[in-house]
Amino acid sequence: MDTRELRNAFGSFTTGVTVIATCEADGTPRGFTANSFSSVSLDPPLLLVCISNSAFSLGVFKEAPFFSVNVLEQSQRDVSRVFASQAMDKFDHVPWEHGRENVPLLSGSLARFVCETERQIDAGDHAILLGKVKDFDYRDGTPLSYFRGQYVTLDTSKDGEIGQKDEKTKPAFFAGK
Ligand SMILES: Cc1cc2nc3c(=O)[nH]c(=O)nc-3n(C[C@H](O)[C@H](O)[C@H](O)COP(=O)(O)O)c2cc1C
Repeated sequence: MDTRELRNAFGSFTTGVTVIATCEADGTPRGFTANSFSSVSLDPPLLLVCISNSAFSLGVFKEAPFFSVNVLEQSQRDVSRVFASQAMDKFDHVPWEHGRENVPLLSGSLARFVCETERQIDAGDHAILLGKVKDFDYRDGTPLSYFRGQYVTLDTSKDGEIGQKDEKTKPAFFAGK
């Protein structure tokens, strides 16, 4: 199979952008940009993210009992770029604070989740980190999005209009209600 073409096809699925963060045993904060994030379960509260076997921080996340997921806002493109690099001083370039269990949380994120590592699953050239949500917050804003290898900004106003104003395009379960 042509993996370059497969990568392009996978990239047709528009995603948000997150930064996954944790601390090494000595307290050094580590993190990487990821768009492989997905919610998994509400009860129990579970989410997942995939980390490449080639990530510098793989060993740190494999050992980490806790990690955070920071969903980026459109103004955080540079944050995404910093965490997509392999620099060792990424956290020197962004505002952040310690959250529950001492995990790093990025300031200005659209949503932030503190997770306990529930399970790790080796999956081809990535590992799936399954996390149990221990704490979270979120705020208003526009998401940073990613489509076919590029950052894009979504027009999030449309969704609100469909559900609330436009009768013709309302989903069936709203009809007549
Ligand atoms: C938009 C975007 C999404 C990415 N998603 C992932 C991902 O889901 N998993 C992953 O391992 N790397 C992903 N990467 C690549 C990592 O961010 C990159 O390899 C980074 O250098 C890893 O950091 P580290 O080597 O310091 O651990 C993504 C990069 C970008 C720009």
